[in-house]
Amino acid sequence: MVALLVAAAAAVAFVVVFWSGGRRTQLEGALLALAFGGSGVGLVVWANHLIGGGEQSEDRTPLRATPEEIRELDAELGRGEVIARRVWLRRSAVAAGGALGIALVSPLRSLGPSPGKQLLHTAWGDGVRVVAEDGTPVAAADVPADGLVTVFPEGAVGAADAQAVLVRVDPSLLHLPRGRDSWAPGGLLAYSKVCTHAGCPVGLYQADSHELLCPCHQSSFDVLRGAVPVSGPAAWPLPQLPLVVGADGLLRVSGDFSEPVGPGWWKA
Ligand code: FES
Repeated sequence: MVALLVAAAAAVAFVVVFWSGGRRTQLEGALLALAFGGSGVGLVVWANHLIGGGEQSEDRTPLRATPEEIRELDAELGRGEVIARRVWLRRSAVAAGGALGIALVSPLRSLGPSPGKQLLHTAWGDGVRVVAEDGTPVAAADVPADGLVTVFPEGAVGAADAQAVLVRVDPSLLHLPRGRDSWAPGGLLAYSKVCTHAGCPVGLYQADSHELLCPCHQSSFDVLRGAVPVSGPAAWPLPQLPLVVGADGLLRVSGDFSEPVGPGWWKA
């Protein structure tokens, strides 16, 4: 019973420490160990007490109780001692189990607030200018043939979900998905830099095969066909940006990415 009460107290202490701000990992671990250890010890001792230690043997005798045995049982029940001990033992077990249960659901608090729809959109939008990593606007002429430029939306340089890569290809080679004919002015293409497999940056471009490569697990994407995956574990194309070249020669977009960026959890 003492072990079960210790387990209950340790579980309650864990809940208090966790909900008061946490960041005391060692203390939380020690309290959990005490809670589980106390429960284990309590249950083992209880079981041993019920079963009894050592080898037990009994002669086969008629199972009917003698009048003497019945009188002894009546007297025992009348005293109530055994029953009272058992009640307290049971209460201790319930307290330990209940406190442990509360302790086990407490980490749900760490999940934080729901992200809502913010994972579905980025800082790209109609009319947003394309800027380089140093924040300077990018002109169509700045993108070298067979080269790759990392870009961001103006005002959101460094935004992990909005990073994109610009490449230039021969427009006559393009076979973009339906409805994207105007998204690649002069053969300029902009795709999300966030790999659709596990979110690594797709930072390599193989110009002779027109493929973007992700170095993490070697997925490759065909830029001529809307960045569909052609090898590796990625299952979804890289989202594309609708590029526009302004009258000043600077690049803009006419909307957000074709799909939410990153691993395709929303399609599962
Ligand atoms: S994260 Fe790109 S292939 Fe795995």
